[in-house]
Amino acid sequence: EPLTARAVVDLDVPGPQISRHLYGHFAEHLGRCIYGGFYVGEDSPIPNEGGIRSDVVEALRRIDIPNLRWPGGCFADEYHWRDGIGPKADRPRMVNTNWGDVEENNHFGTHEFMALCELLGADAYVNGNVGSGTVQEMSEWVEYLTRAGDSPMARLRRENGRDEPWKVPFWGIGNEAWGCGGNMTAEHYANEARRYATFCRDHGGNTLYRIAAGASDDDVKWTRTLMESLNCLGCQREPTNIFQAISFHYYTVAGTWAEKGSATAFTTEEYYATMGKAQDVERVLSAHATVMDAYDPGKKVGLVLDEWGTWWDVEPGTNPGFLYQQNTMRDALVASVHFDVFHRHADRLVMANIAQTVNVLQAMLLTDEATGELVLTPTYHVFEMNRGHHDATSLSVHVVERPETRTEAGRPLDVLSASASTRDDTALISLSNLDAEHPLEVVLDLRGRAVTAHTGRVLTGAQLQAHNSASNPDAVAPTELTAIETDDRGLRVTLPPHSFATVSLTLG
Ligand code: AHR
Repeated sequence: EPLTARAVVDLDVPGPQISRHLYGHFAEHLGRCIYGGFYVGEDSPIPNEGGIRSDVVEALRRIDIPNLRWPGGCFADEYHWRDGIGPKADRPRMVNTNWGDVEENNHFGTHEFMALCELLGADAYVNGNVGSGTVQEMSEWVEYLTRAGDSPMARLRRENGRDEPWKVPFWGIGNEAWGCGGNMTAEHYANEARRYATFCRDHGGNTLYRIAAGASDDDVKWTRTLMESLNCLGCQREPTNIFQAISFHYYTVAGTWAEKGSATAFTTEEYYATMGKAQDVERVLSAHATVMDAYDPGKKVGLVLDEWGTWWDVEPGTNPGFLYQQNTMRDALVASVHFDVFHRHADRLVMANIAQTVNVLQAMLLTDEATGELVLTPTYHVFEMNRGHHDATSLSVHVVERPETRTEAGRPLDVLSASASTRDDTALISLSNLDAEHPLEVVLDLRGRAVTAHTGRVLTGAQLQAHNSASNPDAVAPTELTAIETDDRGLRVTLPPHSFATVSLTLG
């Protein structure tokens, strides 16, 4: 017996714009994300441009990645940018103390990162070092990257082969300052953020969007302290413009931090616990947004979720410090649930970055440097299927008949997750059926505009644990959704168990 649901979509009631930056990415010097993932070096037999893997770039161009955050994460607060410029053979080495205690040769530095962004067509989000750096170091990095004309840092950049400055729209003021970024109190960090942000200048035509390092999970006191620090200067009602956004991090950890569970060997009950944890991002996001509303009703300060995604135990036999994990249909549904939440909060949430793009945590791509193989994960396909939401106008989806599943532990779980957007004379509706075993029939009550054509796509796997590998790369891949019928009210769509679907409409 299928479960049933009914959802109303007012096609003629526009909501806020869904920034394409909600589909942002994150690449840290961690495990095989940069080295062996994005960057294989110029001498690699794997086709590359300046050492950057060409098939990785091509795959990511197909999902239109809007921005890339780099170099960390925790790594950002021990990274010294001057070590990563100039001839590679002369670059000093360091120890990556956060991730595997391995040696970092600094061969991937500022020029390589900006070349990667240019190849991807993505905006750069550079995360500066507050924890072990200096104000001068950060200020000079901004100058090196973005200043035209004649100046000490612009001259140094030219000596290293780049004449024109780059555009760097997004700038992070440290990372997780409450932990690996320096173990600071919120009050101390708020002062540091204001001090560092002051000296991150807008040079020429480059305008920085400065992002203060934010809370872990639902630590709203951290957000409140940062908001107070923006408002208290002269106690004006409008926040000052010293930094423009505040971040927070939210990971889907279904077990405990000590025992996070396997990425591929899990029970149905563990699957449901994961879905509950993924849906909880809405409560956490709303808690931060509510605090911000109290200080900034005009929503001038942005909220940025610059790390999110699943975090499982590493794959057996891999370095525990490298955070390499497989990615199943369960991960795909974690992603689709997050995007529905992001779309609903597009008035305050201006950017989100999944952790991390290649070979680390909830990755889009898994690569093997020895064989040259590249695997697209189920999560990759959710990004691809949702591309139509980038910069589109959100539409509310009112779920008026909401089916629940009771887990073995007796916890209720909403099994339909949905969101929608419109652009010109089209609309895109995203639907997830989170029930592990039952199909879900959804009546889409489409109001306000005529629908002249529809198509559908669906992503599912034979089991919840289905995943892609080099020997079975399309175990989870999108196919056409044929189970769509028209009825008086709109459309009747049947979703397979544990599936994600998109329905594209042409509007009259
Ligand atoms: O994404 C992995 C790590 O998780 C990041 O370096 C850090 O910011 C967070 O704790």
